[in-house]
Amino acid sequence: MSAPLEIVILAAGQGKRMYSDMPKVLHHLAGRPLLAHVLESARTLKPAAVHVVYGHGGERVRKAFAQAGVNWARQAEQKGTGHAVAQATPAVSDQATVLVLYGDVPLIRSQTLQELLQAAGSGSLALLTAKLEQPAGYGRIIRDKAGQVARIVESKDATLEEAAVREVNTGFVAAPADKLKKWLAGLRNHNAQGEYYLTDIIAMAVAEGVPIATRSPRDISEILGVNSKQELAQVERIYQKQQAEKLMQQGVTLCDPARLDVRGELSCGRDVVIDVNVIFEGKVVLGDRVQVGPNNVLRDSTVGSDTIIHPNCVIEQADIGVDCRIGPFARLRPETKLAAHVHVGNFVEVKKSDVGEGSKMNHLSYIGDTSIGSGVNIGAGTITCNYDGANKHRTVIGDHVFVGSNTALVAPVTVGAGATIGAGSVITKEAPAGELTLTRAPQLTKPGWKRPVKKAKK
Ligand code: UD1
Ligand code: CA
Repeated sequence: MSAPLEIVILAAGQGKRMYSDMPKVLHHLAGRPLLAHVLESARTLKPAAVHVVYGHGGERVRKAFAQAGVNWARQAEQKGTGHAVAQATPAVSDQATVLVLYGDVPLIRSQTLQELLQAAGSGSLALLTAKLEQPAGYGRIIRDKAGQVARIVESKDATLEEAAVREVNTGFVAAPADKLKKWLAGLRNHNAQGEYYLTDIIAMAVAEGVPIATRSPRDISEILGVNSKQELAQVERIYQKQQAEKLMQQGVTLCDPARLDVRGELSCGRDVVIDVNVIFEGKVVLGDRVQVGPNNVLRDSTVGSDTIIHPNCVIEQADIGVDCRIGPFARLRPETKLAAHVHVGNFVEVKKSDVGEGSKMNHLSYIGDTSIGSGVNIGAGTITCNYDGANKHRTVIGDHVFVGSNTALVAPVTVGAGATIGAGSVITKEAPAGELTLTRAPQLTKPGWKRPVKKAKK
């Protein structure tokens, strides 16, 4: 049986170069904290335990991840990566294999980590290394004449000759817990930075004859760390490009893969077309042949097959049926449920409302806390007055109702099936089924009335 896996995530760094009051690992990548991405990769490895080392502003990190089911280890002072890992290891079982991850290196693929763990096998130390054109700043991998790893030298401690080495330490390492604990206890901070370097365990392992294995990431982006807003933006673009690639691989048409942002989970049916500048947040599901026009924002919503979302809509927590037409410039707010073939046109806002099959509200309306039957036509400018200043009330509109333009429906109110409401009405009482109801001041004409004219100046 192989050793249980325990993961240590280092997240104590201050993130000075972010120039932010927020701990670095809480900054968002694709709508979620950096640390959430690392935790997700960690979880795919099915570890027996995950330990997060936190420091600067760490209470906020703990709070944000209170439900994450991780062990917390506080590193009060940042004394180096070795010191950081040592804060977590007392809680790690001696039989475990320890994998070290970084809260600010979010694009690491679980496949790469799996390969690293395989290389660690039982009893070896495995390092993830990469060959870089510009190795400046990274720890260099120093190999002996036989090509075996001998030690790691940090950039600031490197001789000119060592600094010329292009194979670098990515920081990701896997090692047996019992040995790791012993090595960490032996670390000294006699180096350029006065820190306890995790990287010094390599030479210790070599001295004990522990085999060192190395593996490399498939893509260099996997090892990119976030230290500044520039790097955060760079990592965001890489991540979004990867999302776009995945969608196109599944057959989704993206008018421009560089102008799509998925901040959550997007699943698409067949022959979906997504135009430019569309943002998906949370969990969004698009059915077959859905078309999403430019400049749309969709959050936590479901869109039925053959529905077209025209440009410039904001859609949140809505459940849209098949073959609907939404927008341009529509706003669907939480708890909106549209049946099949519904049309919601420009400058229409719908909130907490159910709309029946084939009903249409094409222009300039507010529909809130309303239940609308099927085959209903809501005229331009219709407003449900759902709020009396203290409480919200419901409006109920039966099947095949026709509401004339510029109607105010003062809730609570019911419009019976098949009723017609005359344009410009203020409906405060039940409008009976099948009848015409209207409230309207009578039109009058004053024959021969003359407009006032300006008095002539003397
Ligand atoms: C480290 C490695 C270096 C490697 C580089 C890759 C060491 C000594 N050096 O260098 O070989 O090439 O990463 O990016 O390990 N952290 C803590 N507590 C601390 C110090 C750091 O939690 O006391 C965390 C930081 O938040 C960060 C990570 O550890 O997530 C790396 O720390 P950083 O100072 O950036 O390491 P480097 O000096 O870049
Ligand atoms: Ca450092």
